[in-house]
Amino acid sequence: MSRYWSKVVDGLTPYVPGEQPKLPKLVKLNTNENPYGPSPRALAALRAEGGVTLRLYPDPNCDSLKESIAALHKLKPAQVFVSNGSDEVLAHTFLALLKHEQPVLFPDITYSFYPVYCGLYGIEYKQVPLTESFEIRVDDYLTPNGGIIFPNPNAPTGRPLALAEIERLLRANAGSVVVVDEAYVDFGAESAVGLVERYPQLLVVHSLSKSRSLAGLRVGYALGHAELIEALLRVKDSFNSYPLDRFAVAGAAAAMADRAYFEETCAKVVATRTRLVADLESLGFDVLPSAANFVFARHGALGGAELAAKLRQRSIIVRHFKNPPRIAPFLRITVGTDAQCEALIGVLRAILT
Ligand SMILES: Cc1ncc(COP(=O)(O)O)c(C=O)c1O
Repeated sequence: MSRYWSKVVDGLTPYVPGEQPKLPKLVKLNTNENPYGPSPRALAALRAEGGVTLRLYPDPNCDSLKESIAALHKLKPAQVFVSNGSDEVLAHTFLALLKHEQPVLFPDITYSFYPVYCGLYGIEYKQVPLTESFEIRVDDYLTPNGGIIFPNPNAPTGRPLALAEIERLLRANAGSVVVVDEAYVDFGAESAVGLVERYPQLLVVHSLSKSRSLAGLRVGYALGHAELIEALLRVKDSFNSYPLDRFAVAGAAAAMADRAYFEETCAKVVATRTRLVADLESLGFDVLPSAANFVFARHGALGGAELAAKLRQRSIIVRHFKNPPRIAPFLRITVGTDAQCEALIGVLRAILT
């Protein structure tokens, strides 16, 4: 604590992002980045941007990008909000839509940024335990609340929730906002975007960091009724009018337009995931069913921390969470290229036999 700090800052427990090590020849499977590069069309758009245009501020409304996102999802631009990574979309969502008298509900094992935003904005929250098999059970959320948020598929478990269950939740919970964080949805879960027109309390959040391979560009967006989007715009315009720079707007719009590349690279990740799961199981791992670009796996013989440390000594980085204790035996492993996953399996075989 410094005497110059505000009380709010003194009380914060900030989010700890996955490591971005600068070691050479690393197999980096710790932050769920896409192993394939961004769409060549996005790269061309980035190269074309710049030069003299950087003299000028970007479009504060990001109209061109909103139009391409809206067209892709068959919605109107007024139903789209864009910001600096889906993290910033989520931050604004907590302040704009989830800060109420009743606590916001989210799973006890989930994206660890949610409680951090609650701490930052002074929002009451209640963590709802996942089932024995690490699933979200909708019935557990049917209590008075100031909002509900969960990722689908969930992180770090990778387990998806069926769309019919999400719709059941929406039907039973009309009085507060339900946020579905679909950062990983393109790798195999059912999207709730098709429900946006019918449920005015639904907000769906997407990221370009995973399936569009643009983690370094920082673009995310939310889809929902214009009334929810307006709340987000009010926060954004009280915080930073230009959350996306000119490169981000141009690169993201081009990436969203390149459907073929997106489908091809997602299919490659899914195929590698199937092989990775089979290989891990053959080494004695218990792997949760994953609809994401990562798997969550534990081994009976060695603990999660020990396995992560041994992999690290051999230049392979995966993510391990000490807390909550229930997930300490697990490793969260990003699906890399076939070659990266084969390297991982080879090293695990050497460690375990
Ligand atoms: C569940 C979930 N939501 C949102 C994000 C944020 O992604 P970004 O800010 O890169 O769009 C992540 C990142 O890992 C995540 O795991």
